Amino acid sequence: MNSVIKIILLSVLVFILSIPLSMKPTAGESDHTPIRIHLSWEGDPRTELTVMWETAGMTDSIVEYGSDLRYGSSEKNVSSKPDWANGYIHQVKLGGLKAGREYHYRCGSPGYWSGDFTFRTAPEIPEDFSFLVIGDSRNPGNNNDDLNGWEMVVQSMKDDIRENQDKYDFIHFLGDNIYNPNQQLVWEKWFDILSIVSRETVFMESIGNHEYDYSSSEVVPNYFGQFAFPGNELWYSYNYSNAHIISLDTDGDFSPESPQYHWLVNDLERVSKDEENKWIIVMFHRPPFTSGGKGDQDVKEYLCPLFDQYGVDLVLAGHMHIYERFYPLDQTGEVMDRNESDYDDPPVPVYIVDGCAGAPQYSSYPKDWTAYMEKEFGYSRISVSLDGTLHFEHLQVRGGQRKVVDEFEILKRDAIYVIEEEADDPESRTNMMWIVIFIVVFVIIICIVLLMVKGSGKDRDNYEERGGNGSALVSINPLPDESATSEDEKK
Ligand SMILES: [Fe+2]
Repeated sequence: MNSVIKIILLSVLVFILSIPLSMKPTAGESDHTPIRIHLSWEGDPRTELTVMWETAGMTDSIVEYGSDLRYGSSEKNVSSKPDWANGYIHQVKLGGLKAGREYHYRCGSPGYWSGDFTFRTAPEIPEDFSFLVIGDSRNPGNNNDDLNGWEMVVQSMKDDIRENQDKYDFIHFLGDNIYNPNQQLVWEKWFDILSIVSRETVFMESIGNHEYDYSSSEVVPNYFGQFAFPGNELWYSYNYSNAHIISLDTDGDFSPESPQYHWLVNDLERVSKDEENKWIIVMFHRPPFTSGGKGDQDVKEYLCPLFDQYGVDLVLAGHMHIYERFYPLDQTGEVMDRNESDYDDPPVPVYIVDGCAGAPQYSSYPKDWTAYMEKEFGYSRISVSLDGTLHFEHLQVRGGQRKVVDEFEILKRDAIYVIEEEADDPESRTNMMWIVIFIVVFVIIICIVLLMVKGSGKDRDNYEERGGNGSALVSINPLPDESATSEDEKK
């Protein structure tokens, strides 16, 4: 009896001691879990997409993707652990995607997959689209990693995206992510906040002064290593629907002799001759016009004349930690249209400053050319429609609540889109071609079968006419009939 009690007590003790062990994650599980997932474009938004994420430990870099949860396709790459990183950086580029489609995907490695997420490719033929713009999320300083404002703005965007059924096709950030770009722990905190939206909505950026090392004046490797944008990732452009989006580096060299300036002139020259690109939207960090100071005089001198010359419609910048909108201004800063909120084919761009994604707020004072300004956290929504309008809204985010505080509309008559026949859709044409081929082949097969049936019927008729009984063997070697045999025998 005593030995039975001992065994029971020992079993209970072993069970109790095993509980903490069973609750502890298995070794390496959390190290391999994908975190800080974000999407971007390095190439054509219709057919390509790049997925980036981090893991604490070394794992494979695999993305499985497809039209539903079965995925069906996968792409892989090799992870890296640069000197500046605390963990492993994963970057996988998907290609050959179909335009205008929703895809499911998961990233990670076998046994350590992320959840299932979705993304959408850009449309093949123009359609209405919307995107969000934010800028300047940085923490206050080296010894203060407060990103509470950034967290509140991102959560508001997340709510906005969910409530509007994933209406927004991408987010564009106007620079100054964190205060000191060499502090990787702050980057990680920043990405932890961003990832609640960036794992399903493409995130693009125009680089700001806080992505440059203060002492060396070089862009920190943390920026290049944690983002994937087109070209040199400093200045680039891409098309989305009927809009051409340009992103510039206003903290690099953009003087008329510089590579960036030459690239911009070529890009504007090309796009101004392209009938498909009805809207030109330019984004960068340092504003040429601002109520908070003089504005960047180099941007004003070198870039604004190009914007006027090539018909740029909208220019967005950050750097000043406020929101402000100006009446349409020419390159000298002269107001060309004093309407409050409706601009009918304005001859010059509308300039916006949107630098209120969480950075310490600046004071500013309206000028004669200020249409609206305020010093609050927030972000902006831009909707481009095929009816030739660009609708802009700025939302104030206060105490977690968001509300539209400023809006305007640009009507561009040249951008009114005439919907063409569906047959002009290359995919529809391909589908129609296969349907026609199928019908033709089907008809040919039916005709062949009918001819064969008819032919065999004729053979049978011929044979039966000759007295056969329908057997192939018999028809080839017909036996002599009884009457003939009788005649021979008689002979
Ligand atoms: Fe800045």
